[in-house]
Amino acid sequence: MRIGILTSGGDCPGLNAVIRAVVHRATMHYGDEVIGLRDGWRGLIDGEHRKLDLHAVNGIIGRGGTILGSSRVRPELLRDGVRHVLDVAADLGLDAVVPVGGEGTLKAAWLLSEAGLPLVGVPKTIDNDISGTDVTFGFDTAVQVAVEALDRLASTADSHQRVIVVEVMGRHTGWIALHAGMATGADAVVVPERPFDVERLTRWVNRRFAAGKRFAVVVAAEGAKPRPGTMPFETGGRDEYGHERFAGVARQLAVELEGRLGKECRPVILGHVQRGGTPTAHDRVLATRFGRHAVDAVHGGRFGEMTALRGTRIRLLPLARAVERLKTVPRSRYEEAECVL
Ligand code: F6P
Repeated sequence: MRIGILTSGGDCPGLNAVIRAVVHRATMHYGDEVIGLRDGWRGLIDGEHRKLDLHAVNGIIGRGGTILGSSRVRPELLRDGVRHVLDVAADLGLDAVVPVGGEGTLKAAWLLSEAGLPLVGVPKTIDNDISGTDVTFGFDTAVQVAVEALDRLASTADSHQRVIVVEVMGRHTGWIALHAGMATGADAVVVPERPFDVERLTRWVNRRFAAGKRFAVVVAAEGAKPRPGTMPFETGGRDEYGHERFAGVARQLAVELEGRLGKECRPVILGHVQRGGTPTAHDRVLATRFGRHAVDAVHGGRFGEMTALRGTRIRLLPLARAVERLKTVPRSRYEEAECVL
């Protein structure tokens, strides 16, 4: 078989481990040929690709980013994009495509699969918001990076008796904020799933000061918003793909809390540091398992499906189900956390 692999959307630690696993399983077990498509779906639009053999993927398992490059190009948003991708895949002689990506990529994959492209998806995102899989690779690494930063920030906040508001990634869901906040004993966590009330947040932090704390750390997912009308709040509009842009919840919240608490507040935005660099062992293992199972699924003719972690096992599930809705943080998880407003 001739299999094409692409990585699309925001990058994520573990992408190279999937690429490596696909190449190893396909070439060594099935005798397939694997080609890497450049920069996500763009590679299937422009036909730009390279051959991937064992040498090409040597030593990449622990490397951050993606050796194939990525982009947010969405074929279904381009004029004749879907038809064009089918033509390019046929010209390249592809028997199957393995797109590795998040929400947007998997939606495009589902549409292309419905249009007749044989593909098996692999979910990835540091945000951990894909339905149908217990966890996505990249999430563990992102949480680890955030935890390291939060531990460091807590020590400087303590020295200066400050409140530090730390913005972590997560535009639609608060998984990173919740896990990093819980793992570091943060004083408060605000997430996109629950608009926060700044009055309540102020009381919450003040109670901690009254109980003897001298500093506070508030973790805010970048997509968190105040309840309408509770504080002035600037939003950032949308980008060309319809994704929300953010005007900085940490910055705006720090200004508001400083006025209300009468304490020095500092905003810190962790940003892309959460997405870059070497994946944790957990993410390398999950990515490797996904890659291997994706190739097996191709050989089993399981097109239109994606790999997913369910409990300890890797399963396949229809892309249509995975893209129905995002996996948000359930109420029971907020309740356990006790620091989520
Ligand atoms: O979806 C992953 C993610 O890292 C989000 O958490 C974040 O909002 C977004 O990508 C940032 O995208 P970009 O790299 O295009 O700014």
